[in-house]
Amino acid sequence: MASLLVTGGAGFIGANFVGHWLSTHPDDRVTVLDLLTYAGNRANLDHLAAELVVGDIRDERLVTELLQTRAIDTIVHFAAESHVDRSILGPDAFIETNVLGTHALLKAARQHWVDGGRPHRFHHVSTDEVYGTLSPTDPAFREDTPYAPNSPYSASKAASDHLVRAYHHTYGLQTTTSNCSNNYGPYQFPEKLIPLFLLNTLAGRPLPIYGDGQQVRDWLHVEDHCHGIAAVLERGRIGEVYNIGGGAEMANLAVIDTLCAEVDRLFAAEPALKERFPDAPAAKGLPSASLKSFVTDRPGHDRRYAIDCEKAMRELDYRPRHSFESGLAATIRWYLDHESWWRGGQDGSYRAFMQANYRDRQPVA
Ligand code: NAD
Ligand code: DAU
Repeated sequence: MASLLVTGGAGFIGANFVGHWLSTHPDDRVTVLDLLTYAGNRANLDHLAAELVVGDIRDERLVTELLQTRAIDTIVHFAAESHVDRSILGPDAFIETNVLGTHALLKAARQHWVDGGRPHRFHHVSTDEVYGTLSPTDPAFREDTPYAPNSPYSASKAASDHLVRAYHHTYGLQTTTSNCSNNYGPYQFPEKLIPLFLLNTLAGRPLPIYGDGQQVRDWLHVEDHCHGIAAVLERGRIGEVYNIGGGAEMANLAVIDTLCAEVDRLFAAEPALKERFPDAPAAKGLPSASLKSFVTDRPGHDRRYAIDCEKAMRELDYRPRHSFESGLAATIRWYLDHESWWRGGQDGSYRAFMQANYRDRQPVA
């Protein structure tokens, strides 16, 4: 039986991972350490047999106490500030949590595990954004692609990756790192492209497309990401880095058109949706795509990300199982079936986000 500390486990990917891990390792003990920032939601852990400790990864004493009292042998580190737009408006929180927070965790882990001679694993969850941006003809990111982060978010994640590497190399901490592409799926906070555009479509609000909408991302269903992390934990080599991708490179406009078409199809097939969401264009017989609105671009916007996950496929037998079309349809269904979660639930997630109004999205004249 293992005892896991999952940082950021009340956020999008962390909560999906806790659910995945407990369904495949029901005898393991899972403790979640999460500060419950705007992105964390204790409701994401409802029905899961995990203990939630509300606290900060920067609190080294708390982390050490958890390592001792819960006999933790595995840390899976998700906790982060994760949204590029927010990092452009206010980088400080990103440095605090992603760099200093990761370092506090590493210090506590080193002292308790390495100095104490205890078997352990520290898995760090990172992003493909650390590799920078690609032209249309560049080969996809490999694990040995040089780092070239372009946003305060990706720079803070790159710094954390380097710290993890250094703690392995210098102190012998037993680490692994995974760098993955854009996740989507249940429980994603509606500031990211897919849930934001879906909920805006249902409410009849504009869909703010940055620049020309031709930026390319590799879309990874969160369940596939969780399988990938589990494969690294179970079969990954210590000190190694693994890229995890979805094999679904798409331009934003293609993603948005696929989403709009699926919403239109569902409204045509299910008349009850028209009553639930009367402001949606699809409720009035109009295409959801009529909400598309081109707005000023994100500063420093990376043009293309693409993941080469051949190493994870070869060494870990990793394979993404969701096609983008089926994964997106399942995700839309989940949001339609969990309206109380995104309307507010216990933490008022979507309402609070819309009220925060943190970004001025001006249509391009
Ligand atoms: P998220 O923003 O949904 O969740 C982050 C969680 O971390 C929240 O629950 C939040 O409360 C918690 N948190 C923030 N600061 C904390 C602190 N100081 N102490 C403790 N908890 C804190 O993020 P996500 O999308 O689930 O991403 C999880 C991880 O995966 C991040 O490290 C992110 O960089 C990485 N990642 C995300 C994606 C993606 O597409 N979402 C892709 C690649 C990598
Ligand atoms: O690549 C992995 C990264 O993916 C993760 O490390 C980040 O944590 C995660 O937030 C995500 O970053 P992106 O910036 O790619 O995700 P986001 O959903 O914010 O944007 C996806 C694309 O859609 C991007 O090209 C910007 C564009 N976009 C986004 C929003 C929110 C728009 O055009 N309009 C929008 O309103």
